[in-house]
Amino acid sequence: MTTLDQIKAPVAEYVDSFHQQYEQVLLSKSEWLQQAVEHLRSSTGKMVRPIMTTLMAGLVRESLPAKTISAAVLLELIHTATLIHDDVIDEASTRRGRPTLNALFDNRIAVLMGDFVLASALIGAIGIGDLRVVAIVSAIGRELTEGEIRQFETAEHAVLDERIYMEVIRQKTAALFRSCAEIAVVTTDGSDEDLERLGECAELLGLAFQIRDDVFDYYPQDIGKPTGNDLREGKVTLPLLYVLTRETEPSAEVRQCLEWLHSRSYGPREIEQMIALAQERGGIDYAYQRMHELIDRAKELLLHYPDTPYRRALMSLSDYILERKV
Ligand code: IPE
Ligand code: IPE
Ligand code: MG
Ligand code: MG
Repeated sequence: MTTLDQIKAPVAEYVDSFHQQYEQVLLSKSEWLQQAVEHLRSSTGKMVRPIMTTLMAGLVRESLPAKTISAAVLLELIHTATLIHDDVIDEASTRRGRPTLNALFDNRIAVLMGDFVLASALIGAIGIGDLRVVAIVSAIGRELTEGEIRQFETAEHAVLDERIYMEVIRQKTAALFRSCAEIAVVTTDGSDEDLERLGECAELLGLAFQIRDDVFDYYPQDIGKPTGNDLREGKVTLPLLYVLTRETEPSAEVRQCLEWLHSRSYGPREIEQMIALAQERGGIDYAYQRMHELIDRAKELLLHYPDTPYRRALMSLSDYILERKV
């Protein structure tokens, strides 16, 4: 498997500037906020979104304008803010192998810190001086939040519908990937065709990325954040959803699971059984099949661009999304 370090090699020269700006945007007078920012700085994630953004920008224009990097910083900040809030909502105590801000401080402070990061990104967008960037950065917050709320709704009503599942992950995850592509194109003055094509490509990668993330939840393992949480919160993701909806005459085991989900009365033992059912009846295989389809379509779109180190890296990034272990 190609490592992320290898994938980001064509844009490695921009990494320092990225980190500098990331910290610059978050400067504050509050001691706690400074601690939180230091914590975020020392536990950055995989940086998949900025890596994709800069590589896509490289497809459009060989040498990247400064504003591509500045705007990529803002989208990573929005991603970070949503994770800070998500960890409060999910009551998660670890992320990226470190304690979450809600664990270090408390829920109230963590919510405010997430707000601070989000608000900082919005101010940063004005600083770039390009209305198209402001439009992209400000629209995405709403999309992500609506996606997260819809996920609650579908969990609450135990909605088991693959089309709705895909719609929710499009909003909560893939829309941000699309915004990254849009930033890549508008900051390099790409064409409308680039905007549509790379936007679509990024969205497909984002969908696959979230399905892969959802599959992690079916296995107890150390990925730097808790697993097994989704079902505990009533979130039925693709592998189980598939198994529960594919039989026209549901078997006894499937009927039992449906009953637990609809009555919202299940504990750790039942969750274990539901996870085993998803694994044994082909739910994980189905999720991989769907991911492969998404990744293949994304790669086809990349083939419209010349064979450069940027394109090769994006091809590897597409595979990485599937093969990754964290
Ligand atoms: C986690 O995103 C949230 C999802 C959309 C699945 P990442 O897996 O990109 O998180 P970090 O930034 O690398 O920690
Ligand atoms: C939510 O997805 C991440 C956002 C898009 C805000 P998850 O709830 O699956 O993210 P993790 O697994 O906690 O990283
Ligand atoms: Mg979560
Ligand atoms: Mg998850």
